[in-house]
Amino acid sequence: MSHSNPPSPRRFAATGPLSGRIAVPGDKSISHRAIMLGALAVGETRVTGLLEGEDVLATAAAMRAMGASVERGADGTWSIHGVGVGSLLQPGAALDMGNSGTSTRLLMGLIASHPIRAVFTGDASLSRRPMGRVMAPLSRMGAAFEASPGDTLPLMLRGISPAVPISYRLPVASAQVKSAVLLAGLNTAGLTRVIEPVPTRDHSERMLRGFGAAIAVGEEDGARVIELTGEADLTPQTIAVPGDPSSAAFFAVAALLVPGSDLTIENVGLNPTRAALYDVLREMGARIEEHDPREVGGEPVADLRVRHSQLTGVAVDPALAPAMIDEFPVLFVAAALAAGTTTTTGLEELRVKESDRLAAMAAALTLAGARVEERADGLVIEGSGGDPLRGTPAGGQVATHLDHRIAMAMAVAGLASRDGIEIDDTAPVATSFPAFETLLGEAQA
Ligand code: S3P
Repeated sequence: MSHSNPPSPRRFAATGPLSGRIAVPGDKSISHRAIMLGALAVGETRVTGLLEGEDVLATAAAMRAMGASVERGADGTWSIHGVGVGSLLQPGAALDMGNSGTSTRLLMGLIASHPIRAVFTGDASLSRRPMGRVMAPLSRMGAAFEASPGDTLPLMLRGISPAVPISYRLPVASAQVKSAVLLAGLNTAGLTRVIEPVPTRDHSERMLRGFGAAIAVGEEDGARVIELTGEADLTPQTIAVPGDPSSAAFFAVAALLVPGSDLTIENVGLNPTRAALYDVLREMGARIEEHDPREVGGEPVADLRVRHSQLTGVAVDPALAPAMIDEFPVLFVAAALAAGTTTTTGLEELRVKESDRLAAMAAALTLAGARVEERADGLVIEGSGGDPLRGTPAGGQVATHLDHRIAMAMAVAGLASRDGIEIDDTAPVATSFPAFETLLGEAQA
């Protein structure tokens, strides 16, 4: 899981239009949460459409190590038998989180209010990412930490029961921090509150409610306030995971950029706290239609029909960033092919994702011939007006820095390039979208 294998470089080049119908795999955020909550509910939780990517499998392995049964049936339905809130077992070995920040931060929350100790380890990318943002509130609840310098992995967490319920105002717009506190609150008697000045993805709140937790969402002085009453008893659920809008984004942008494309992406989750990319692309002139809007697993879903479009640059409202935080790498690619200038601001958080996504995308797009200015909090991109990017020069490779979204975004850019774009390593793609290259082949057939 830590990508110690030799890198798998690949050149992505222009081929035919993308057409037909594809379905992207299940939502990564929802898949993590389904396993975690299923592993805390006594009885059987059944999950269809679970994302079987490395990040989610890291969560499954961790929950098994703490006593739950998490198994895949022959038909692809996952069956989870939970231990009950408060009954997680001491893991016998370090929890290897691979590349997954979501697994790490949410599990730190779960464990913080259990009287157990856990060591978290991860790959080189995850070991650079800041964990202080979850250690701060969880310490206030009574958990103790021994972390590596800069509050990074490897770290040891000593949970506590009973933990102290807190009211916590998020200093950064982060669904991971919000979720860590709420999950810690499950085994904490009393009222755990999280105040979000800027709304972030609300999958935890939706799913906690679905599992029967006492959770209320309100508003106070313009901020969202989430209140969870512990100790909770969770009731097992049957969950259908919608398609991941962040994975669909790569195919949507590819179809927009490759002339002649007309692609339908089925079953895409369009939770408003996630789907802002599609609004921004429409503002840029994208032809994206939503068909058959419906609800799947408590989340809004539709089929997206995407046709090749001439895009125009925009100034992206920084207030939208949390609702498209994982989509900026591929938005930058769309911007590089648009007519005119795209300006993005307020994106400091992108510097602490699986890689520094502002630096990585500025370097990658520049290498491929795009005109990009990197600023402290965003990129300014002069689009080509629809002309293909030159592509990577002979011997040049895009550095993906163990970041799946850099690899997939630049693969999409390769489809809209003259000479092709070579990626140094496609292996990281397996963290969130193992079928990416296969599906790309199908959409181009
Ligand atoms: C996630 C939240 C986001 C996102 C990540 C998944 C989640 O991180 O970037 O890929 O599942 O809660 P932050 O909440 O830290 O911005």
